[in-house]
Amino acid sequence: MSQKFRVPFGTMSITSSAKEMIAQALDDGKVTSGGLVGTFEKEFAKLMGVSHAVAVSTGTDADTLALATLHDRGARRGDEVIVPALSFVATGNAVVHAGFTPVFVDIEYDTLNINVHRLELAITERTRAIMPVHLMGKPAAMNEIMDIAKRYNLMVIEDAAEAHGATYHDRIVGSIGHMGAFSLYAAHIISTIEGGIITTNDAELAEIIRSLRAHGRGCVCQQCVLSSSQDYCAKRFRNGMDTRFTFPRIGYSSKMNELEAAVGLGNLAQYENILQKRRANLLHVLQRFHEFHPYLTTITEADYEQIGPHAIPIIVSEKAPFSREDLATFLEHHGIETRTLFMSMPTQCPGFAYLNYKLGQFPVAEFMGRNGLHIGVHQDLKTDDMEYVLEMLDVFIKKHNRTKEEIAPVRRVTVLPDEQPGS
Ligand SMILES: Cc1ncc(COP(=O)(O)O)c(C=O)c1O
Repeated sequence: MSQKFRVPFGTMSITSSAKEMIAQALDDGKVTSGGLVGTFEKEFAKLMGVSHAVAVSTGTDADTLALATLHDRGARRGDEVIVPALSFVATGNAVVHAGFTPVFVDIEYDTLNINVHRLELAITERTRAIMPVHLMGKPAAMNEIMDIAKRYNLMVIEDAAEAHGATYHDRIVGSIGHMGAFSLYAAHIISTIEGGIITTNDAELAEIIRSLRAHGRGCVCQQCVLSSSQDYCAKRFRNGMDTRFTFPRIGYSSKMNELEAAVGLGNLAQYENILQKRRANLLHVLQRFHEFHPYLTTITEADYEQIGPHAIPIIVSEKAPFSREDLATFLEHHGIETRTLFMSMPTQCPGFAYLNYKLGQFPVAEFMGRNGLHIGVHQDLKTDDMEYVLEMLDVFIKKHNRTKEEIAPVRRVTVLPDEQPGS
């Protein structure tokens, strides 16, 4: 754990079994994608209740490669994929990396997720897929999204990067759409240090993804996609051509290595324990959060869902007599590490300026981009640490309540004409 923070944002569980597997892999000289990756994929698929899981290098690649399968299903470069305006920028980047145009839809204030009432309006003749994000582990409205997708014949790829362990109407998040894309980055619930994984029940999609992660390679048998055996691949030569070196599609180089898979297997063995600790931390804070209304708000858990305990979002409301910066500075000075709650990709991330969206088009996402924070709930934090977070929020609010009149006038959600994207 970090020395600087009492409540650091993330942690990393590298178990003793993972260390043994890593030592063995190093001794055997078998470190590139192989048997451990294959086992990790099988166990992850089992955990998520799907038939296939394909491990890749990052969560961003999980999004990208899942989207890139659309080319095998008739999509053309430049076709459209609908995504929420608020997410970590990787969601929008992945759409571009896969060769498509992101079409952004604003989010809902209470759930932080795509506003399904606006989703249908964004569908055009070129729309090929919807990629909802379960931001902060809060499940997006998948019933409505699947219904719309069915009516318009669209693929649904869940960006479940932050949603390990989330459930929605008794279904595991990441297994509801045609594919789910998870990040396995260090701060996430299951981690391989860096890494990502795609889940699906569609064997053909899984095979395309295995090809995509290996440069678009033709042969996708175990020997060719994983170095799991030294055996000769009998399927290798067809009509005089070496299928290992024929590339029927534009691919990526995005394999997971054995050392990362070993860390992931160690995490999977601890999964129930990690999940239960993180959920206890999250719920401890969420259940008391009403104490900070109306100045601070967060998400709530509905009876049909379980939020995947990724982090706690904290939104400085328009009624607050203080800014996000005031709150973040106070928390950081008191040992609580903070992250912003991302930004409106189309209007606050300059990389998407080429799409010509205008600031003000995504008022809710933009509001979160200016006023949202999130803090950690990871497995190395204890109830005491969560109590400390609540206490510090209380101290901060009381301090501002006392001096409210002198500190600042009530702020409003208006967008100033001279406000620039990225500000
Ligand atoms: C919603 C979302 N999508 C995609 C990603 C990308 O994952 P990675 O950092 O593993 O590339 C992240 C990262 O945390 C994320 O939060």
